[in-house]
Amino acid sequence: MLPTLIPALLLATLACQPPSQDSGPVDDTGPSHPCLQAGADCTLAETATARGVHAGAAVPNGPSDERLAAMTTHFDSATAENAMKWGATCPTLGSCDYTQADAFMDFAEGARLRIRGHTLVWGQSPGHGHPGDLATLAEQADDPYTFMEQAITDHVTAMVGRYRGRVESWDVINEPLAPFGSTLDESVFYNAMGPDYLDLALRVAHQVDPNARLFVNEYVVSDYDGDKALAFVGLLDELMARGAPIHGAGIQAHLYLEVPELDALTALIATIAALGLDVELTEMDVAKLALQEQLDDGEDLFEAQAAAYGVLVQACLAEPRCTGVTTWGIDDGDSWLDSMPPYDAMAPHLPLLLDTDLQPKPAYHTVRELLASGGEA
Ligand code: XIL
Repeated sequence: MLPTLIPALLLATLACQPPSQDSGPVDDTGPSHPCLQAGADCTLAETATARGVHAGAAVPNGPSDERLAAMTTHFDSATAENAMKWGATCPTLGSCDYTQADAFMDFAEGARLRIRGHTLVWGQSPGHGHPGDLATLAEQADDPYTFMEQAITDHVTAMVGRYRGRVESWDVINEPLAPFGSTLDESVFYNAMGPDYLDLALRVAHQVDPNARLFVNEYVVSDYDGDKALAFVGLLDELMARGAPIHGAGIQAHLYLEVPELDALTALIATIAALGLDVELTEMDVAKLALQEQLDDGEDLFEAQAAAYGVLVQACLAEPRCTGVTTWGIDDGDSWLDSMPPYDAMAPHLPLLLDTDLQPKPAYHTVRELLASGGEA
């Protein structure tokens, strides 16, 4: 099945909404909050909270106490980088160990962080994104559709049930589209069930925890008005038309190739919001490669990186339904890019908001200042 594509014109014509600046009654979270004043001495977490959005980070496996302390100081939302993935909890189907996922949950709750659950159904990376034997078992099953229906139902029920009422948002589906294409990925799930697996996972998650916000999370490549972005909007639109319980769309925002145009990303977020969905930028990092053009002009790496983060955060702040931004890692000392081919060839990428000493970088200050100003550069 090919998702119906929303015409490019729609993206181009949707105006971006400025953040609301009305001068209603003064309260602690309104525009007069001290953290929203110019020059305020507040952390990113405090500033985001005052602005009414989340500023989060993904927590890697086995973090040091210092890293967790920095997380607690600077961020107000946590995603497990790996610990809650299907293949991380169940390397083979039905043989599961929730120790790491439980440890992440305990830390995040103890630190009073908002929790994004990542991720229930992901077709990439067998043994990590999903159990290593899932594809073989599905192929061998008499009825692959029923086999996969049961496997997804059992897994989603187990995970969402285990953390019911504690995970605020779930990335129920991760990367449903082909990596560099604009059709549904022919994943282990799709091969067994066609597009029905999407609705099934969302429906089961909603039944098990009706209060959790359910997201579909996608990597939209670099041109945010390109074919893949349009296919993502089309897919979200179709899911909503079919009555699937979906509340939000995650745009990963790994910047590997280039920095997006502010207008294109703003329009994409507005288009998704116009469907009636919340949006979050769920996995931000800025690889060296994405900055190549600016660096050729002699610009400082960290200033160029700050500007790239600025584009992402400004686009989010332009849309009231954009409820948060999350970086894919806490600090430059532990980024997946440094060990992930082909990006490892350019390591270290130093792609995050805190440096290897866990200190704020120029990008941190840019993001904090944009959150304080409501998006005015
Ligand atoms: C990555 C982790 O960061 C790595 O540590 C792991 O080896 C592979 O997965 N998109 C996603 C994330 O949705 O789950 C991926 O995380 C990065 C790309």
